[in-house]
Amino acid sequence: MEESFSSVVDNVENLHPYMKEKLKSFNIKEFRPSQKKALEKGLLKGNNLLICTPTASGKTLIAEILMFNSILKEREKNNNVKALYLVPLKALASEKFHSFLKKYSDNFKIALSISDIDSVDKSLEDYDVIILTVEKLDALIRHKVSWIEKVKVVVIDEIHLLNDPNRGPTLEYIITLLKLKYKIQILGLSATIGNPEELAEWLNAKLVLDSWRPVKLKKGILENNIIEFFE
Ligand SMILES: Nc1ncnc2c1ncn2[C@@H]1O[C@H](COP(=O)(O)OP(=O)(O)OP(=O)(O)O)[C@@H](O)[C@H]1O
Ligand SMILES: [Mg+2]
Repeated sequence: MEESFSSVVDNVENLHPYMKEKLKSFNIKEFRPSQKKALEKGLLKGNNLLICTPTASGKTLIAEILMFNSILKEREKNNNVKALYLVPLKALASEKFHSFLKKYSDNFKIALSISDIDSVDKSLEDYDVIILTVEKLDALIRHKVSWIEKVKVVVIDEIHLLNDPNRGPTLEYIITLLKLKYKIQILGLSATIGNPEELAEWLNAKLVLDSWRPVKLKKGILENNIIEFFE
């Protein structure tokens, strides 16, 4: 039991010892199908990836492994790099911030940057991982903050927002800029993309598709406080 528990994490190529210990401390006994596929498709080898899997299938952990592992690998070479975690909503940003802080603040400086004040956020220079909204990153890029050059990894959560008529164009502009101007590894996450192949091609990313979900979705009818399932 103990043997197989350690080996799942221990056998991952390019995974830093700190991350191995972290994953064990989180009690990760096995990787979920999408996590296995992401590792197989070069998550830790610099490939762009688009992960399209159901809700609660474990996309955040893929992002955590990529962000913190990349920073650690660069630290070994005395390079100071950053990872950005982009979200569409402020509420989601706070949630991720508190979760990452709880899990990784022993070894990383983590910041939340969502204020509407369109300021040059020089203080962010000192942080390893920055969680921010699409609009905030747009403002920071326009202000030409110098630390953008240090960004090595960008996670784009809820990347289907690209199809949103109001907010999609800003995200599209940012991704285009990141692809062209900076050498950045992109990880896109979504539970609901209509056109995953097309989006993966545009991102120059390998596509991870999987239908595994933690709880089986059942359909039924609720009547007089009783649910009758179809199957
Ligand atoms: N390999 C694993 N073993 C056990 N639990 C895991 C594993 N990977 C992730 N989890 C847990 O699964 C839960 C749901 O994961 P997560 O929030 O990343 O889902 P998600 O794919 O981002 O969903 P959504 O599309 O709703 O954002 C989390 O509580 C996480 O800790
Ligand atoms: Mg998620």
